[in-house]
Amino acid sequence: MIEHTISLQPFHTFGIDVKAKAFARFTTIQEMQELLEDPAMLTSAQQLILGGGSNILLTQDFDGFVLKNELPGLQVVGETADHIFVKAGAGVNWHQFVLFCVDNGFAGTENLSLIPGNVGASPMQNIGAYGVEVKDIFHELEAYHIKDKSFEIFDHQACAFGYRESAFKRKWKGQFIITSVTFRLDKKPVYHISYGAIQEKLDEMKISALSIKAISDAVIAIRNSKLPDPKIIGNAGSFFKNPQVTLVKYEELVLSYPRIPAYPVDALHKKVPAGWLIEQCGWKGYRKGDAGCYDKQALVLVNYGKASGAEIYELSEAIIGSVKDTFGIELEREVNVF
Ligand code: EPU
Repeated sequence: MIEHTISLQPFHTFGIDVKAKAFARFTTIQEMQELLEDPAMLTSAQQLILGGGSNILLTQDFDGFVLKNELPGLQVVGETADHIFVKAGAGVNWHQFVLFCVDNGFAGTENLSLIPGNVGASPMQNIGAYGVEVKDIFHELEAYHIKDKSFEIFDHQACAFGYRESAFKRKWKGQFIITSVTFRLDKKPVYHISYGAIQEKLDEMKISALSIKAISDAVIAIRNSKLPDPKIIGNAGSFFKNPQVTLVKYEELVLSYPRIPAYPVDALHKKVPAGWLIEQCGWKGYRKGDAGCYDKQALVLVNYGKASGAEIYELSEAIIGSVKDTFGIELEREVNVF
């Protein structure tokens, strides 16, 4: 069913009240193909394929057709001596997929617990948390080429994963609809607990025996303590990427800011946490109207209720400007702005 002039507020985690000219959801491949052939779609000025809506900022009414991908399905499709292969429909909620793996003892997703959004967007963004990225458990995906009306399989290499990046965000932007993703999980867990506060949280929770479930629970607890629940406060997780700087630049920064945190990238680069840079510039907890910089994690911009997308965008511009003036580092947005 195609709906006209509908508010997109319930369909994205920033909760901004903008309208789409036309909107429809699909739960089967056939529905998807029919909608793509609909005259309303063929004549629309723009198209937007929406998953969980957890990584977008809508700054104006959308003068086009929004298609919400709700393709279901979650099943084991293969097994080797070391691995289990799980195929998930693009419309499956990411955390439901993680819980399916954790409950069945399939290792690899536990550090990625509670990330908002759906399976379909996970390789597009190469989502990541606590030292693990989707690329580490990705096997292949199936996508529909909108113009050619054909299905294609993409393997790891074809996706060209980078830090919150893939070919689907760059050279193939807007050309494909991801319909399903197949993940390769480990039978024998390899625990990643060195990153962030996982070990600290495990100690605090008095968990001494490591397990997939224990790590998942710790990650859930950490995320709940730092990140706002989009059902309560609108947000899209990290608004900016953590910038990469050269070693030369890093050493220059250390002279003025001896406590600056940094992570190694390669022999010539380090990654600096954008949240730290933003906090140093005094933005943490800032609020103007209903647009704000979250008080527990400065990397997250929030909508306290009635902020417009333009107000959030304006705030992000001001933050980029002040980080640039103070540190000489240009922050890059992680969310997709429309
Ligand atoms: N920090 C501050 N002030 C802040 C926030 C952070 O000083 O307000 C410092 C922390 O003290 C710490 C460092 O920055 O030294 C890193 O902070 P944190 O562990 O919270 O992670 P992050 O680098 O800010 C990244 C991801 C998150 C992911 C976490 C945990 C990006 C853009 N963000 O954030 O991903 O959950 O690591 O692995 O890489 C997302 O992409 O939407 C997202 C939430």
